[in-house]
Amino acid sequence: MGRSFASSLNTQGARRSFAQETVSFTYIDPTGEEFPVEAEGGKHLLDVAHDNNIELEGACGGELACSTCHLVFEEKIYDKLPPMSEEEEDMLDLAFELTDTSRLGCQIQVTKDLEGMTVRIPDDGY
Ligand code: FES
Repeated sequence: MGRSFASSLNTQGARRSFAQETVSFTYIDPTGEEFPVEAEGGKHLLDVAHDNNIELEGACGGELACSTCHLVFEEKIYDKLPPMSEEEEDMLDLAFELTDTSRLGCQIQVTKDLEGMTVRIPDDGY
């Protein structure tokens, strides 16, 4: 009996600390304006931008059918991102102002690795 009480306490504690996990970083828009945000672990960068009223288009809603969620990362951060799928690579090829550290914002989730980064929203060419 004492044992199951202790294990239920542990479960609740774990849940609470996961919900509190936030990561702070900054988006920079094409005009150079900075937008600091705090984001929950596991959210996609496209959704974090929208939650904070930051203009990042995301026309297909994260279905890998556009490249309007294009983001440019700092090299040290880019190197820590999970590998790109073939589908992301194909879509990214169509992005305007493509760089060596470009990724699609709808494919990147918030993790502790992103703490303190600045990520740039490139000019969409319009
Ligand atoms: S929102 Fe369309 S590919 Fe990311």
